[in-house]
Amino acid sequence: MEKNLKKAYYVIIGILILLFFNKEEEFYKNIKIIENPDDILVLVNKNNQLLSSYIPNNLESISLKYANKDKYLKKEAKMAFEKLSEDASKLGYRIVAVSAYRDYNYQNQLFNYYVKEKGLEYALECSAKPGHSEHQTGLSLDVEGSNKDYDSFENSKEFDWMKNNSYKYGFILRYPKGKEHITGFKYEPWHYRYVGKDIAKYIYENNLTLEEYFKKI
Ligand code: DAL
Ligand code: ZN
Repeated sequence: MEKNLKKAYYVIIGILILLFFNKEEEFYKNIKIIENPDDILVLVNKNNQLLSSYIPNNLESISLKYANKDKYLKKEAKMAFEKLSEDASKLGYRIVAVSAYRDYNYQNQLFNYYVKEKGLEYALECSAKPGHSEHQTGLSLDVEGSNKDYDSFENSKEFDWMKNNSYKYGFILRYPKGKEHITGFKYEPWHYRYVGKDIAKYIYENNLTLEEYFKKI
């Protein structure tokens, strides 16, 4: 009996340790409603949700010189992206926005599309549920390069440039390779998030995700 009790004790301790170390992977659990949606440093992810009614108040359309269609970003992100794209084009790179602000309903359609086409497991890794996409903040965008396919942006010369220069304009690579267990999403070479120049530089130099940055400060 005593032996069994001891065994049960070790099993419980083991489970608690596992739960503790797996904390970061508890995606879509203990979800908090975001209280600072207009903050340039807002954290939107699988555990922090925007209200369905949230629409940024200073959306502006990106010049068609730098976007493939009518796309919107918050003013500060739009200005920074246009400068980035303009400077890049002077160096012979083509960096064009193919997706930027997305409202709650559109994100809902997008997520459901992935579920239908690729199944729930895949959808959860590559698309945020509505309210959990930082595209709804107007601070994020997806880009394509000269190979005109955001999905293979990683193979474009523009990606190498973006990797090492986007922070100078205030953007971070939001879903890096090897950090999927922290961000909750597959590696996305095409997705950038505006956080402002100082924080972007810090995140770049310290090889962090936005989640790790908030834990560190
Ligand atoms: N693809 C990113 C994670 C989104 O859906 O917001
Ligand atoms: Zn994106």
